[in-house]
Amino acid sequence: MNRVVVGLQWGDEGKGKVVTYLSRYHDVVARFSGGANAGHTVNYGSFKVIHHLLPSADFIRNVGIAIGNGVLLDPQVFREELVELRERFPGYSGEILVSENAHIVLPVHKEVDRKVDEVLKIGTTKRGIGPACADRVMRANVRIAELHDEKRVRALLKKNLSLKSFYNLTFDVEKALDDLLEFYNTIKGFVVSSLQMKRTLEGKNVLFEGTQGVLLDLDVGTYPYVTSMNCSSSGVSAGMGFPVKVDETIGVFKAYTTRVGEGPFPTELFGDEGETLRRAGHEYGSTTGRPRRCGWLDLPLLNYAIEVASVDTLVMTKADVLNGFEKVKVCVRYKDGKELLSLRDLEKKEPVYEVFDGWKSLESREFDRFVNFIEKETGKPIKYISTGERLEDIVEV
Ligand code: GDP
Ligand code: IMO
Ligand code: MG
Repeated sequence: MNRVVVGLQWGDEGKGKVVTYLSRYHDVVARFSGGANAGHTVNYGSFKVIHHLLPSADFIRNVGIAIGNGVLLDPQVFREELVELRERFPGYSGEILVSENAHIVLPVHKEVDRKVDEVLKIGTTKRGIGPACADRVMRANVRIAELHDEKRVRALLKKNLSLKSFYNLTFDVEKALDDLLEFYNTIKGFVVSSLQMKRTLEGKNVLFEGTQGVLLDLDVGTYPYVTSMNCSSSGVSAGMGFPVKVDETIGVFKAYTTRVGEGPFPTELFGDEGETLRRAGHEYGSTTGRPRRCGWLDLPLLNYAIEVASVDTLVMTKADVLNGFEKVKVCVRYKDGKELLSLRDLEKKEPVYEVFDGWKSLESREFDRFVNFIEKETGKPIKYISTGERLEDIVEV
Protein backbone atom coordinates (compact mmCIF):
# COMPACT_ATOMS: atom_id res chain seq x y z
CA MET A 1 0.00 0.00 0.00
CA ASN A 2 1.56 3.27 -1.13
CA ARG A 3 0.30 6.46 0.45
CA VAL A 4 1.16 10.07 -0.15
CA VAL A 5 0.82 12.75 2.52
CA VAL A 6 0.64 16.34 1.28
CA GLY A 7 0.07 19.63 3.05
CA LEU A 8 -3.08 21.39 1.83
CA GLN A 9 -2.20 24.94 2.83
CA TRP A 10 1.04 26.94 2.80
CA GLY A 11 3.08 24.37 4.71
CA ASP A 12 3.47 23.64 8.44
CA GLU A 13 0.17 21.76 8.63
CA GLY A 14 1.75 19.11 10.87
CA LYS A 15 2.87 16.74 8.08
CA GLY A 16 5.92 15.57 10.03
CA LYS A 17 3.88 14.45 12.99
CA VAL A 18 1.20 12.80 10.85
CA VAL A 19 3.77 11.04 8.65
CA THR A 20 5.72 9.77 11.67
CA TYR A 21 2.50 8.43 13.17
CA LEU A 22 1.33 6.76 9.94
CA SER A 23 4.79 5.38 9.19
CA ARG A 24 4.07 2.47 11.58
CA TYR A 25 1.85 1.05 8.80
CA HIS A 26 4.65 1.31 6.20
CA ASP A 27 8.11 -0.09 5.56
CA VAL A 28 9.68 3.11 4.29
CA VAL A 29 9.05 6.86 4.37
CA ALA A 30 10.26 8.55 1.18
CA ARG A 31 10.82 12.24 0.51
CA PHE A 32 10.31 13.37 -3.08
CA SER A 33 10.63 17.16 -2.83
CA GLY A 34 11.90 20.09 -0.83
CA GLY A 35 15.19 20.60 0.88
CA ALA A 36 16.31 22.15 4.13
CA ASN A 37 13.57 24.78 3.68
CA ALA A 38 11.22 22.23 5.25
CA GLY A 39 10.91 21.98 9.02
CA HIS A 40 8.93 19.01 10.28
CA THR A 41 8.59 18.88 14.05
CA VAL A 42 7.95 15.56 15.72
CA ASN A 43 7.27 15.46 19.43
CA TYR A 44 7.96 11.92 20.66
CA GLY A 45 6.78 12.83 24.16
CA SER A 46 10.05 13.06 26.07
CA PHE A 47 11.93 14.79 23.24
CA LYS A 48 11.37 16.64 19.98
CA VAL A 49 13.04 16.20 16.62
CA ILE A 50 12.91 18.74 13.80
CA HIS A 51 13.56 17.15 10.42
CA HIS A 52 14.69 19.40 7.61
CA LEU A 53 16.04 16.77 5.25
CA LEU A 54 15.59 13.32 6.69
CA PRO A 55 12.13 11.82 6.16
CA SER A 56 9.87 11.78 9.24
CA ALA A 57 9.84 8.06 9.91
CA ASP A 58 9.21 6.48 13.27
CA PHE A 59 12.82 5.68 14.10
CA ILE A 60 11.84 3.78 17.23
CA ARG A 61 9.92 1.35 15.03
CA ASN A 62 12.85 1.10 12.59
CA VAL A 63 10.89 2.37 9.59
CA GLY A 64 13.28 2.85 6.64
CA ILE A 65 13.90 6.18 4.92
CA ALA A 66 14.47 7.10 1.27
CA ILE A 67 15.45 10.40 -0.32
CA GLY A 68 14.46 10.73 -3.95
CA ASN A 69 16.13 12.74 -6.71
CA GLY A 70 13.60 15.55 -6.19
CA VAL A 71 15.12 16.46 -2.82
CA LEU A 72 17.83 19.11 -2.62
CA LEU A 73 20.54 17.95 -0.27
CA ASP A 74 22.29 20.45 1.93
CA PRO A 75 25.42 18.53 3.02
CA GLN A 76 25.80 20.25 6.36
CA VAL A 77 22.16 19.76 7.35
CA PHE A 78 22.19 16.14 6.18
CA ARG A 79 25.29 15.40 8.24
CA GLU A 80 23.88 17.06 11.35
CA GLU A 81 20.61 15.16 11.08
CA LEU A 82 22.37 11.88 10.54
CA VAL A 83 24.43 12.48 13.70
CA GLU A 84 21.24 13.38 15.57
CA LEU A 85 19.55 10.23 14.28
CA ARG A 86 22.43 8.04 15.50
CA GLU A 87 22.51 9.76 18.91
CA ARG A 88 18.76 9.85 19.50
CA PHE A 89 18.01 6.40 18.15
CA PRO A 90 21.22 4.38 18.66
CA GLY A 91 19.37 1.12 17.97
CA TYR A 92 17.94 2.32 14.66
CA SER A 93 18.34 -0.41 12.06
CA GLY A 94 16.09 0.87 9.25
CA GLU A 95 17.30 1.07 5.68
CA ILE A 96 18.61 4.46 4.46
CA LEU A 97 18.55 5.18 0.72
CA VAL A 98 19.63 8.34 -1.08
CA SER A 99 19.19 8.81 -4.82
CA GLU A 100 22.43 9.51 -6.67
CA ASN A 101 20.42 11.87 -8.87
CA ALA A 102 19.60 14.19 -5.98
CA HIS A 103 21.13 17.65 -6.34
CA ILE A 104 23.30 19.45 -3.85
CA VAL A 105 22.79 22.89 -2.35
CA LEU A 106 26.13 24.72 -2.32
CA PRO A 107 26.90 27.50 0.16
CA VAL A 108 26.90 29.94 -2.78
CA HIS A 109 23.25 29.04 -3.50
CA LYS A 110 22.34 30.43 -0.08
CA GLU A 111 24.22 33.62 -0.85
CA VAL A 112 22.41 33.99 -4.17
CA ASP A 113 19.10 33.26 -2.41
CA ARG A 114 19.74 36.15 0.00
CA LYS A 115 20.64 38.56 -2.81
CA VAL A 116 17.85 37.53 -5.15
CA ASP A 117 15.22 37.70 -2.43
CA GLU A 118 16.16 41.32 -1.75
CA VAL A 119 14.80 41.99 -5.24
CA LEU A 120 12.01 39.44 -5.61
CA LYS A 121 10.76 39.74 -2.02
CA ILE A 122 9.21 36.29 -1.79
CA GLY A 123 10.37 35.88 1.78
CA THR A 124 12.23 32.62 1.14
CA THR A 125 13.80 30.55 3.88
CA LYS A 126 17.25 31.53 2.47
CA ARG A 127 18.18 27.87 2.28
CA GLY A 128 19.38 28.22 -1.31
CA ILE A 129 16.41 26.33 -2.76
CA GLY A 130 15.52 28.57 -5.72
CA PRO A 131 19.14 29.08 -6.89
CA ALA A 132 19.99 25.37 -6.55
CA CYS A 133 16.85 24.49 -8.56
CA ALA A 134 17.84 27.11 -11.14
CA ASP A 135 21.33 25.59 -11.47
CA ARG A 136 19.76 22.14 -11.72
CA VAL A 137 17.61 23.03 -14.70
CA MET A 138 20.43 25.12 -16.20
CA ARG A 139 22.49 21.91 -15.97
CA ALA A 140 25.14 23.65 -13.91
CA ASN A 141 24.79 21.87 -10.61
CA VAL A 142 26.55 19.08 -8.75
CA ARG A 143 24.62 15.91 -7.96
CA ILE A 144 25.49 13.10 -5.59
CA ALA A 145 26.27 11.04 -8.72
CA GLU A 146 29.33 13.17 -9.47
CA LEU A 147 30.87 13.12 -6.03
CA HIS A 148 32.98 9.99 -6.51
CA ASP A 149 34.91 11.72 -9.30
CA GLU A 150 37.05 14.56 -7.97
CA LYS A 151 37.99 15.86 -11.44
CA ARG A 152 34.40 16.12 -12.58
CA VAL A 153 33.29 17.88 -9.42
CA ARG A 154 36.14 20.39 -9.74
CA ALA A 155 35.24 21.08 -13.39
CA LEU A 156 31.56 21.51 -12.51
CA LEU A 157 32.36 23.83 -9.63
CA LYS A 158 34.56 25.95 -11.92
CA LYS A 159 31.74 26.32 -14.42
CA ASN A 160 29.38 27.16 -11.59
CA LEU A 161 31.82 29.80 -10.34
CA SER A 162 31.85 31.41 -13.81
CA LEU A 163 28.08 31.61 -13.74
CA LYS A 164 28.15 33.16 -10.28
CA SER A 165 30.25 36.03 -11.61
CA PHE A 166 26.97 37.29 -13.14
CA TYR A 167 25.90 38.01 -9.57
CA ASN A 168 29.31 39.43 -8.65
CA LEU A 169 29.79 36.45 -6.39
CA THR A 170 32.81 34.29 -6.00
CA PHE A 171 33.72 31.20 -4.01
CA ASP A 172 36.74 29.05 -3.33
CA VAL A 173 36.47 26.05 -5.65
CA GLU A 174 39.03 23.97 -3.74
CA LYS A 175 37.31 24.55 -0.41
CA ALA A 176 33.90 23.67 -1.93
CA LEU A 177 35.46 20.56 -3.45
CA ASP A 178 36.97 19.43 -0.14
CA ASP A 179 33.62 19.88 1.60
CA LEU A 180 31.81 17.87 -1.06
CA LEU A 181 34.31 15.03 -1.01
CA GLU A 182 34.05 14.85 2.75
CA PHE A 183 30.26 14.83 2.42
CA TYR A 184 30.54 11.96 -0.05
CA ASN A 185 32.27 9.89 2.61
CA THR A 186 29.30 10.41 4.91
CA ILE A 187 26.71 9.56 2.33
CA LYS A 188 28.21 7.00 -0.04
CA GLY A 189 27.00 3.97 1.88
CA PHE A 190 23.39 5.02 1.23
CA VAL A 191 23.63 6.05 -2.41
CA VAL A 192 21.56 4.19 -5.01
CA SER A 193 20.68 4.83 -8.64
CA SER A 194 17.10 5.61 -9.65
CA LEU A 195 16.71 2.06 -10.91
CA GLN A 196 18.03 0.60 -7.65
CA MET A 197 15.67 2.90 -5.75
CA LYS A 198 12.75 1.68 -7.86
CA ARG A 199 13.64 -1.97 -7.36
CA THR A 200 14.15 -1.56 -3.63
CA LEU A 201 10.84 0.22 -3.10
CA GLU A 202 8.78 -2.04 -5.35
CA GLY A 203 6.78 -4.47 -3.27
CA LYS A 204 7.25 -2.38 -0.13
CA ASN A 205 4.62 -0.26 1.60
CA VAL A 206 5.89 3.25 1.05
CA LEU A 207 4.66 6.45 2.62
CA PHE A 208 5.62 9.46 0.52
CA GLU A 209 6.10 12.52 2.71
CA GLY A 210 5.21 15.86 1.18
CA THR A 211 7.03 19.03 2.06
CA GLN A 212 5.64 22.57 2.00
CA GLY A 213 2.01 22.55 0.82
CA VAL A 214 -0.10 22.51 -2.33
CA LEU A 215 -0.42 26.31 -2.26
CA LEU A 216 3.40 26.57 -2.33
CA ASP A 217 3.71 24.26 -5.36
CA LEU A 218 5.74 25.87 -8.14
CA ASP A 219 3.02 25.31 -10.74
CA VAL A 220 -0.36 25.08 -9.01
CA GLY A 221 0.42 27.30 -5.99
CA THR A 222 0.28 31.06 -5.51
CA TYR A 223 3.08 31.81 -7.99
CA PRO A 224 5.44 33.67 -7.66
CA TYR A 225 5.02 33.31 -3.89
CA VAL A 226 5.84 29.61 -3.93
CA THR A 227 8.79 27.30 -3.52
CA SER A 228 10.79 26.12 -6.54
CA MET A 229 9.50 22.56 -6.84
CA ASN A 230 6.38 20.48 -7.28
CA CYS A 231 5.56 19.79 -3.67
CA SER A 232 1.96 18.80 -4.48
CA SER A 233 1.23 15.11 -5.08
CA SER A 234 1.98 15.60 -8.79
CA GLY A 235 5.67 15.76 -7.80
CA VAL A 236 5.87 12.25 -6.37
CA SER A 237 6.83 10.32 -9.50
CA ALA A 238 9.22 12.93 -10.89
CA GLY A 239 10.79 13.36 -7.46
CA MET A 240 11.38 9.62 -7.07
CA GLY A 241 12.55 9.13 -10.65
CA PHE A 242 9.93 6.56 -11.68
CA PRO A 243 6.13 6.41 -11.96
CA VAL A 244 4.70 5.71 -8.53
CA LYS A 245 1.41 3.89 -8.13
CA VAL A 246 -0.43 5.62 -5.32
CA ASP A 247 -3.21 3.88 -3.40
CA GLU A 248 -4.25 6.77 -1.19
CA THR A 249 -3.47 10.48 -1.10
CA ILE A 250 -3.88 12.00 2.33
CA GLY A 251 -4.20 15.76 2.72
CA VAL A 252 -3.23 17.39 6.02
CA PHE A 253 -4.73 20.73 7.00
CA LYS A 254 -4.81 22.90 10.09
CA ALA A 255 -8.17 23.92 11.59
CA TYR A 256 -7.05 27.46 10.72
CA THR A 257 -4.46 28.77 8.25
CA THR A 258 -0.87 29.97 8.47
CA ARG A 259 1.63 31.26 5.97
CA VAL A 260 5.32 32.23 6.23
CA GLY A 261 6.73 34.70 3.75
CA GLU A 262 4.93 36.96 1.30
CA GLY A 263 1.91 36.38 -0.92
CA PRO A 264 -1.88 36.57 -0.89
CA PHE A 265 -3.78 35.25 2.13
CA PRO A 266 -7.52 36.12 2.00
CA THR A 267 -8.41 35.10 5.58
CA GLU A 268 -5.35 36.60 7.26
CA LEU A 269 -5.95 38.15 10.68
CA PHE A 270 -4.02 41.22 11.71
CA GLY A 271 -3.29 42.94 15.03
CA ASP A 272 -4.53 41.33 18.22
CA GLU A 273 -6.64 38.72 16.44
CA GLY A 274 -3.67 37.39 14.48
CA GLU A 275 -1.45 37.56 17.55
CA THR A 276 -3.94 35.57 19.65
CA LEU A 277 -3.93 32.74 17.12
CA ARG A 278 -0.14 32.90 16.72
CA ARG A 279 0.41 32.64 20.48
CA ALA A 280 -2.16 29.88 20.96
CA GLY A 281 -0.68 27.77 18.15
CA HIS A 282 2.99 28.69 18.80
CA GLU A 283 3.10 29.73 15.18
CA TYR A 284 6.75 30.49 14.65
CA GLY A 285 8.64 28.86 11.78
CA SER A 286 10.52 25.64 12.62
CA THR A 287 13.19 26.49 10.03
CA THR A 288 13.63 30.24 10.31
CA GLY A 289 11.85 31.12 13.57
CA ARG A 290 9.82 33.77 11.71
CA PRO A 291 6.36 34.55 13.11
CA ARG A 292 3.83 32.82 10.88
CA ARG A 293 0.99 34.88 9.46
CA CYS A 294 -2.27 33.47 10.87
CA GLY A 295 -5.89 33.46 9.74
CA TRP A 296 -9.10 31.44 9.63
CA LEU A 297 -9.67 28.27 7.65
CA ASP A 298 -10.37 29.02 3.99
CA LEU A 299 -12.65 26.39 2.43
CA PRO A 300 -12.47 27.58 -1.20
CA LEU A 301 -8.67 27.31 -1.00
CA LEU A 302 -8.85 23.98 0.83
CA ASN A 303 -11.20 22.60 -1.84
CA TYR A 304 -8.89 23.87 -4.58
CA ALA A 305 -5.93 22.09 -2.96
CA ILE A 306 -7.89 18.87 -2.37
CA GLU A 307 -9.00 18.70 -5.98
CA VAL A 308 -5.77 19.72 -7.67
CA ALA A 309 -3.79 17.23 -5.55
CA SER A 310 -6.41 14.44 -5.96
CA VAL A 311 -6.73 14.01 -2.22
CA ASP A 312 -8.78 11.01 -1.02
CA THR A 313 -8.84 11.49 2.73
CA LEU A 314 -8.12 14.25 5.22
CA VAL A 315 -6.27 14.73 8.47
CA MET A 316 -7.09 17.79 10.56
CA THR A 317 -4.48 19.16 12.94
CA LYS A 318 -4.28 21.81 15.63
CA ALA A 319 -8.03 22.10 16.34
CA ASP A 320 -6.99 21.89 20.03
CA VAL A 321 -5.34 25.29 19.56
CA LEU A 322 -8.84 26.76 19.18
CA ASN A 323 -10.06 25.23 22.48
CA GLY A 324 -11.59 28.06 24.49
CA PHE A 325 -12.11 30.42 21.53
CA GLU A 326 -15.62 31.87 21.89
CA LYS A 327 -16.24 31.89 18.14
CA VAL A 328 -14.47 30.13 15.29
CA LYS A 329 -14.80 31.41 11.76
CA VAL A 330 -14.53 29.55 8.48
CA CYS A 331 -14.42 31.22 5.08
CA VAL A 332 -17.10 29.45 3.03
CA ARG A 333 -16.89 31.50 -0.18
CA TYR A 334 -15.66 34.81 -1.52
CA LYS A 335 -17.73 37.94 -2.01
CA ASP A 336 -17.51 37.75 -5.81
CA GLY A 337 -19.60 34.56 -5.55
CA LYS A 338 -17.35 32.70 -8.02
CA GLU A 339 -16.04 29.19 -7.56
CA LEU A 340 -12.25 29.24 -7.00
CA LEU A 341 -10.96 27.61 -10.18
CA SER A 342 -7.75 29.65 -10.40
CA LEU A 343 -5.45 31.37 -7.91
CA ARG A 344 -4.77 34.17 -10.38
CA ASP A 345 -6.60 36.97 -8.54
CA LEU A 346 -6.41 35.56 -5.03
CA GLU A 347 -5.25 38.87 -3.56
CA LYS A 348 -8.58 40.43 -4.65
CA LYS A 349 -10.76 37.84 -2.91
CA GLU A 350 -12.75 38.92 0.12
CA PRO A 351 -13.88 36.13 2.42
CA VAL A 352 -17.44 35.47 3.54
CA TYR A 353 -17.44 33.72 6.91
CA GLU A 354 -19.66 31.24 8.65
CA VAL A 355 -19.32 31.71 12.40
CA PHE A 356 -19.29 28.63 14.66
CA ASP A 357 -19.72 28.47 18.41
CA GLY A 358 -16.30 27.74 19.85
CA TRP A 359 -15.49 24.57 21.75
CA LYS A 360 -13.87 23.87 25.09
CA SER A 361 -12.68 20.41 24.13
CA LEU A 362 -12.44 18.20 21.07
CA GLU A 363 -14.99 15.87 22.66
CA SER A 364 -17.70 18.54 22.50
CA ARG A 365 -20.78 18.74 20.30
CA GLU A 366 -19.60 22.13 19.02
CA PHE A 367 -16.43 20.57 17.67
CA ASP A 368 -18.36 17.67 16.10
CA ARG A 369 -20.44 20.23 14.26
CA PHE A 370 -17.29 21.89 12.92
CA VAL A 371 -15.87 18.55 11.74
CA ASN A 372 -19.13 17.50 10.08
CA PHE A 373 -19.37 20.85 8.34
CA ILE A 374 -15.88 20.51 6.84
CA GLU A 375 -16.54 16.96 5.69
CA LYS A 376 -19.76 18.11 4.03
CA GLU A 377 -18.15 21.11 2.35
CA THR A 378 -15.10 19.20 1.10
CA GLY A 379 -16.88 15.96 0.29
CA LYS A 380 -13.92 14.08 1.83
CA PRO A 381 -13.74 12.05 5.03
CA ILE A 382 -11.59 13.31 7.88
CA LYS A 383 -9.84 10.06 8.80
CA TYR A 384 -7.67 11.31 11.64
CA ILE A 385 -7.82 14.25 13.98
CA SER A 386 -4.59 15.30 15.60
CA THR A 387 -5.49 16.42 19.09
CA GLY A 388 -2.18 17.77 20.36
CA GLU A 389 1.48 18.13 19.63
CA ARG A 390 2.72 14.71 20.72
CA LEU A 391 2.96 11.77 18.34
CA GLU A 392 0.28 9.73 20.04
CA ASP A 393 -2.14 12.68 20.33
CA ILE A 394 -4.20 11.57 17.38
CA VAL A 395 -7.55 9.83 16.98
CA GLU A 396 -8.84 7.77 14.10
CA VAL A 397 -12.34 9.00 13.29
P1 GDP B 1 5.07 20.46 9.05
O1 GDP B 1 6.08 21.33 8.39
O2 GDP B 1 3.83 20.31 8.23
O3 GDP B 1 5.60 19.14 9.49
O4 GDP B 1 4.61 21.24 10.36
P2 GDP B 1 5.59 21.96 11.43
O5 GDP B 1 6.28 20.93 12.22
O6 GDP B 1 6.42 22.99 10.76
O7 GDP B 1 4.53 22.76 12.29
C1 GDP B 1 3.50 22.14 12.97
C2 GDP B 1 3.67 22.41 14.49
O8 GDP B 1 2.48 22.06 15.16
C3 GDP B 1 4.76 21.58 15.13
O9 GDP B 1 5.33 22.31 16.17
C4 GDP B 1 4.01 20.37 15.66
O10 GDP B 1 4.66 19.77 16.79
C5 GDP B 1 2.71 20.98 16.07
N1 GDP B 1 1.53 20.12 15.93
C6 GDP B 1 1.26 19.18 15.01
N2 GDP B 1 0.01 18.70 15.17
C7 GDP B 1 -0.52 19.37 16.22
C8 GDP B 1 -1.80 19.35 16.86
O11 GDP B 1 -2.73 18.64 16.49
N3 GDP B 1 -1.96 20.20 17.92
C9 GDP B 1 -0.99 21.02 18.35
N4 GDP B 1 -1.25 21.82 19.38
N5 GDP B 1 0.22 21.07 17.78
C10 GDP B 1 0.45 20.27 16.71
P1 IMO C 1 7.34 22.66 5.53
O1 IMO C 1 7.75 21.40 4.80
C1 IMO C 1 6.21 26.85 5.32
C2 IMO C 1 7.90 29.18 2.02
C3 IMO C 1 8.83 30.31 2.39
C4 IMO C 1 8.57 31.27 1.23
C5 IMO C 1 8.40 30.32 0.05
C6 IMO C 1 9.65 30.12 -0.78
O2 IMO C 1 7.93 22.77 6.87
O3 IMO C 1 5.85 22.81 5.50
P2 IMO C 1 11.91 28.77 -0.37
O4 IMO C 1 12.91 28.88 0.73
O5 IMO C 1 11.29 27.42 -0.52
O6 IMO C 1 12.43 29.30 -1.68
O7 IMO C 1 10.74 29.80 0.06
O8 IMO C 1 7.98 29.08 0.59
N1 IMO C 1 8.25 27.86 2.56
C7 IMO C 1 7.62 27.26 3.58
N2 IMO C 1 6.64 27.71 4.38
N3 IMO C 1 6.67 25.61 5.47
C8 IMO C 1 7.63 25.12 4.66
O9 IMO C 1 8.04 23.83 4.68
C9 IMO C 1 8.19 25.99 3.69
N4 IMO C 1 9.16 25.85 2.76
C10 IMO C 1 9.18 26.99 2.07
O10 IMO C 1 8.49 30.85 3.64
O11 IMO C 1 7.36 31.93 1.43
MG1 MG D 1 7.20 23.04 8.78
